Amino acid sequence: MSDQNFKTLRDYDLTGKRVLLRADLNVPRHERKVTDTTRIDRLKGTIDYLCEKGARVLILSHFGRPEGEQNPEMSLAFMLNILEERWNTHVRFYTGDIGENAEDFSHSVEPGEVALIENIRFHKGEKKNDPDFAKALASMGDIFVNDAFSAAHRAHASTEGIAHHLPSAAGLLMEEELSALNSALGTPKKPVAAIAGGSKISTKLGVLNNLVEKVDYLILGGGMANTFLFAQGADVGGSLCEKDMVDEALTIIEKAKQSGCEILLPEEMVTVTELSLNAPNENTPSTAIPSDRMAVDISAKSCEQILEKIKDCKTIVWNGPLGVFEIRPFDNGTNMLAQTVAERTQKGEYISIAGGGDTVSALDNAGALNDFSYISTAGGAFLEWMEGKTLPGVAALMKD
Ligand code: 3PG
Repeated sequence: MSDQNFKTLRDYDLTGKRVLLRADLNVPRHERKVTDTTRIDRLKGTIDYLCEKGARVLILSHFGRPEGEQNPEMSLAFMLNILEERWNTHVRFYTGDIGENAEDFSHSVEPGEVALIENIRFHKGEKKNDPDFAKALASMGDIFVNDAFSAAHRAHASTEGIAHHLPSAAGLLMEEELSALNSALGTPKKPVAAIAGGSKISTKLGVLNNLVEKVDYLILGGGMANTFLFAQGADVGGSLCEKDMVDEALTIIEKAKQSGCEILLPEEMVTVTELSLNAPNENTPSTAIPSDRMAVDISAKSCEQILEKIKDCKTIVWNGPLGVFEIRPFDNGTNMLAQTVAERTQKGEYISIAGGGDTVSALDNAGALNDFSYISTAGGAFLEWMEGKTLPGVAALMKD
C-alpha cells in the first residue's frame, strides 16, 4: 500500500481548526501507573505540529475493553499527568456526554490547546461503529486526524465511522508506520526475510500464508517451528506442538515451494526436561527430541546457519520470539538473531521492521530495540497487516 493515497497534516490549513485526533493511548499499566510510554512519546510529533499550527486539539482514545460501560477502572484520568509531562503541555480532560455538551466543550478549546476526551469505549456506539455516534463524535471537530495505526484494525466509530463525516488525514505517526510497513512488504528491497516466532501456528495461519507469497525466506522459530517439523515427520518429544495443525502446516510448506519462498526451520534446538530459570539444558537435533525433553529455544548453531542464509537479504520483517525468551537463558537464540539483525541494520545492510505484542519486549530484552530501522507501536494491527488485510482505519482515510 502506498503511503501517498491519503491526505496528511500538510494538506490542511489547521489554524483555529478543531482537530479530532484519534490516538492509541492503550498503554501498559501497573498499579495505576503507565509502565511504558512508547505510545505516548510517539504521538508527541503530531501534538507539537498541531499546536504549532494553532489547531485546537481534541484527543479521542480507548483504554482497555470496557464494553460500552462507564468503568472508572478504565478511565483515562490516571494518565493525565504523564501525558502532560511527556508532551510538555497542559491537557484538559472532558468526561461528559458525547453530543451537544461535547460540541460546546470543543469550541472552548483554544488554538494551541490540547484536550483529552474520556475513554471512547465507555460508549456503546463506539465498538458498534454506530453511525449516529460517529456523527456525534464528528460534531466535536472540523478535521479528523487518525494517528492510531495500532487501532486501525478495528472498524469502530472513532477509527472508521467518523472519517465519513469529516475531512480526514493521517497523523505523522500513522504516516511513519505506513511508510515503514510499505518498505517492508509493499515495495521492499529484495531479498526479503521474515522471522516469525511465537507459540502457535493456529493464531498466525493468515500471517504465514501471506508471508510465503511475499518473502524469499521465512524463518520459523518458537513453538510454531515444532508443528512444522512434526508435520514433516520429526519427533518433537515433549515440545509444544499443535498436532491438529499438520494439514495447515503442510499446505503452507507447499504454497511456499510454489511461490519460491524457502522456509528455514532450526536444525538444532535447546531442550530441557523441565522449564524453569537456568534449567539444565542441552542441544538436541530438532528432528529427534526424546519424549522426556522439550524444545525451548533455537541453538547457537541454528542461529548461525540462519544468519548465514539471510546475510545477503536487504529487508527483514520480524514478528514473534524464537524461544521462551521470558525465562533465561532461553532468550539466547532470540537475542543472538536480534542483535545481529540490529548490527547489520546499523551497518546499512538491512532495513529491519518489527512489531506485534511480545516482539517488542523480546527485542528490548535483547537490547536491540533502538537499532532496528522501525519498530511498530502496533500489536494486533501489525499482525493483521502482516496477513495482508486491509485495515478499516486506514481504508477510511483513503476515501477522499
Ligand atoms: C492494541 O493495544 O493493540 C490496540 O489499542 C487495540 O486494542 P484492542 O485489541 O482492545 O482493540
